[in-house]
This record gives sequence, structure tokens and C-alpha cells, in this order.
Amino acid sequence: MTARAAQAAQPVPDLPPVGGAPRHLPEVVEAPGTVLDCPFLTDDAVAALVVAVAPPLEEEDGLQPRAGTVDATARYGIDLAELADRSGGTSFRGAAGQVATVDLPRTHTGSTHRLPWAGLPSTIVLLGIGSGTDLELRRAGAALAGATRGLERVVSAATADATATGVRAFVEGYLLAAYRIPRFGRPTAARPGEGPAQDAPAEQLVLLGESRETQLEAARVSATATWLVRDLANTPSNVKDPAWVAEQATALAGAAGLAVEVLGPKELAAQGFGALLAVGAASASPPRLVTVTYEPEAAERHVVVVGKGITYDTGGLSIKPREAMVPMKTDMAGAAVALAAVLGAAESGVRHKVTAVLPLAENHFGADSYRPGDVLRTYSGTTVEIANTDAEGRLVLADALGYAVATLAPDLLVDVATLTGAASVGLGRGHAALFATSPELVSGIEAAAAVTGERVWHMPLVEDYASALRSEVADLRHVPIEARGGGSITAALFLREFTDGLPWVHLDIAGPARATASRHEVTEGATGYGARLLLQFLRDLD
Ligand code: BES
Ligand code: MN
Ligand code: ZN
Repeated sequence: MTARAAQAAQPVPDLPPVGGAPRHLPEVVEAPGTVLDCPFLTDDAVAALVVAVAPPLEEEDGLQPRAGTVDATARYGIDLAELADRSGGTSFRGAAGQVATVDLPRTHTGSTHRLPWAGLPSTIVLLGIGSGTDLELRRAGAALAGATRGLERVVSAATADATATGVRAFVEGYLLAAYRIPRFGRPTAARPGEGPAQDAPAEQLVLLGESRETQLEAARVSATATWLVRDLANTPSNVKDPAWVAEQATALAGAAGLAVEVLGPKELAAQGFGALLAVGAASASPPRLVTVTYEPEAAERHVVVVGKGITYDTGGLSIKPREAMVPMKTDMAGAAVALAAVLGAAESGVRHKVTAVLPLAENHFGADSYRPGDVLRTYSGTTVEIANTDAEGRLVLADALGYAVATLAPDLLVDVATLTGAASVGLGRGHAALFATSPELVSGIEAAAAVTGERVWHMPLVEDYASALRSEVADLRHVPIEARGGGSITAALFLREFTDGLPWVHLDIAGPARATASRHEVTEGATGYGARLLLQFLRDLD
């Protein structure tokens, strides 16, 4: 481990985000009772009350009251659904993700004295939940975060009659959408007695209804994992070089009591990481390989999660066109997902041993660049003929997979990577391309995806295409000579060469790792896709 890594203590130490983005998740707590008898609904700190509505049954009907709406109507002495119908106009139909905020009038002195809602929160949020499926509740939760952003304390009855999984989806949607991208603005002078803006108190959401502690905790751990991936992937690449990511991993793993190992360029050279070193050779910031281990007592299986950690992808000598390069600070999202998954596994007490392996490098170009035509010796000894230096992800993964196979004794290999533009051309931004060596692994990932709402599409490992990876001068060619399509498949077939026939899952997240606009629980920029998915998969793995 380097001395710099050992000193790191803060998750985001350099260039702290400035400008009010809270780095803390909102707090979600439970309270007994209903809107009719909730003891602290009259506290001044409660800024809004949230109740649920559903779409009309027939065209001419009004909105249907759902959890809390009938009680609120009784306690406030006004017909809320009717008020929402009027204030929301024709566009508010109670669909999941729609919100109508009703601000009740005060008297001309500004008080609500003698009004029927005296002392109660004067803002009522009517939250559309559609037919109340988990997916709809996740969207409703996300919409609530948008509607109540910045409000100190909000009381919600909207999930009072939801199932356990529905409550989790709602809270997860709320926490995910509450994220704000770190801003690196000009430092604002801290007012005396006040901490920096990012330490501002987090919002608090109080849920009325049956206690769902386990679900709340699951949502909190999952959202924390996603926030971490977003923070790391949204950090600009002039801040997050490989050493910086290694420091973050070291600090976070240390705080969680997990074992960390960081290999620097000297150790990497001594141990034969020929591909990782070649990819990072032209960068002023040399590569690192980070290993974070969570090992519970009597661990059943050992899952190794490898994540692509390219802190910036210029394409190297096979340089990217200028527009294509712009989003490439997120090319380490896979490594961030692997890190978040092992931290989350530890926090939620997963029964299996989980090791995250993070090959970190910057794919730059310069006098030390690796070149098309070069032959590299990977960790496993397999040699690779380079065809295009922009296909760097599979190279760093090859070394990391080879290392995992040779030194970590895994029962299952998982890799996650923003690997190919082809995956997002084929599937768009909504789905990751999923490759796996058995139907059980496919259904395991699909089941986890159904819980978290992070969509996957099962892709074939087409054996015929493997011939495209034959080389005249090395054991393997790393991209096909002729582009015949199927770019995400040939990339997967290349990686498979380094898995030693072990059970293996490959997730190509080039599409869903980033978003150009916020939508429901997915936020603009780095989305954190995959962290909740892998965490859920690890929790449910027998
Ligand atoms: N990081 C890119 C893949 C990528 C592209 C991620 C767009 C997110 C959005 C990867 O390193 C890459 O450049 N892949 C090449 C592979 C090709 C040279 C075989 C690609 O997809 O063009
Ligand atoms: Mn590339
Ligand atoms: Zn890349």
C-alpha cells in the first residue's frame, strides 16, 4: 500500500463539492399511527403531509383516494381528492410519478387560526401511485423526493397500506432521486458558526404505518451504494486518477473494517500485470490494482467482483472523436460498482465471502502509449495482440480476472464494465447486456433486477464468433479484424478466455451507467446502475 493511500480519511477529500449538495442521504424514520391520530403532525417542523391517490376508475370519476387521503380529508375538513382534481387540472391523473402539491390558504394575518386545518401542515402532497405495484411505488417515492426537496421534515401516509416490498421500493425511489450531483463551485464564505454547505442537515421523511425496519434498512444500504457510485463516477478526472480512487477505496473499506490491498506500478510490474500497465502507460498517473475483501465467519461461497476502472478513456492512440470522449470520466463506473457491492455486502451481512478487484488506469496517449500491433503478456500468461487501443477495458479486466483466478480461489466470477458502445447501440440506455455461463446465473441476476428495477437483457455467447479473436502473432487478438457487428459479444468472448472455465457473469453497463436527464429514480450523469443489482444478487445467492 502506498503512503498516500494510508493517509486518506475522507470519501471525497480533494476539491470538496461546494454549493449546497448534501452528501448525506435523507433520513427515513417510522412513526406509529395514522393521519387521524399522528401525535406530532402539528409540530412546526413538519412542512408537508403526503397522501396517496390513484387514477379514476372511469373517465368521469374523480381521483381515487389511497393511503392517508380519507383520513387527511377528515382531519383537515376538506375534500382533498376534489381539491387535487381542481388544482392539478386535467394533467394530474394519479399515475405513478405524478404529484399535485396543495398549499392551503392561511388567514390574512398569516395564521391558520380558526381554519379547520389550524396547526396542521399547510402543504399537502397528493402522490399518484397508479395501481400501487412496486415499480410504481418506486416512481412515486422518486417523485416525492423532487416535490419535497429542501423541506426539513415531511410526514407520509402514502405507503400505510403497502406491502413490505412496496415500502422498500418507495423508500429506495425516494432516496435515489434525492441525490444531487456534487458541484465543484467557487468556495462560498462559510458564515460564522456554520459548517460547509454540504454538511447541511439532511431532509427527514417520516413514514406512518406498520413498522418495516428490515425494508427501510435494505433501502438505505442500497441507496448508499448507488450514491457512492454516482459520487465517484461524477467526480472529474483531474481529481480522480487511479491513486485517488485507490485512496477512496482504502478509506471506505478501512472505515467498514474490511481488508484492503493496493498494488502500485512497481508491484504490478513485478507480478506481471502486462495489460493493465500497458493501458496506463501513457498517463502521468500510473495504474493501481485494489482488492477489498469481506469475509464473514463460515462463508459459504467466494464471489469475486471485478470492475472496470478506467479513470478517463481518451481511446489512447486510437483516439476517440471529440464528442465521444466527453462522458469518459464515467468509465470507472464498473470499479465503483464493485467497491459499492462489497461495502454493501458487508453492511448487510451477506453470507458469502465477497472480494472486489479494481483494476484502475487512465487510458491516455503519449510517448509511452501502447500501440495497435503491440503484443502484451497478461497476468495469466496469455498473450494478446492489440488492434485498437480504445478497447482498453477488456485488457485491464483480463489482468484482473487472471489475477482473481490465480490468487483468490473464487467460486464465482462477476465482472461489471462500461465496456462497449455496441451494448448501448443494441439495447439503449435502459438495459445492461448480461452474459453468463449458466441459466441459473442468468435467472439469479434477472431476479435481482426485478427487485431493484435495474433492467438487464440476456445476451448469447455465440461460439462461432470466437474465431474473430484468433491472432497470427499472439494467443488472442483483442478485437476482431473486420467489424461484423456483435461488438459486445466478441468483447464478452474475449473476457471468457480469462475466467478459467469458472462460473462467470459479465455485465456490460455502457448504456445504463449514465443518463442525459433525470427520470424517476435515475439521476442525470452517473446513474450508479448495477450497485443495487449486484448487492441484491449477493444477498439472494444460496
Ligand atoms: N469506454 C468505452 C465504451 C463506452 C462507449 C462506454 C460509450 C460508454 C459509452 C470502451 O473503452 C470503448 O471505447 N470501446 C470501444 C471498443 C471497440 C474499439 C472495439 C467501442 O465500443 O467503440
Ligand atoms: Mn475505450
Ligand atoms: Zn473504456
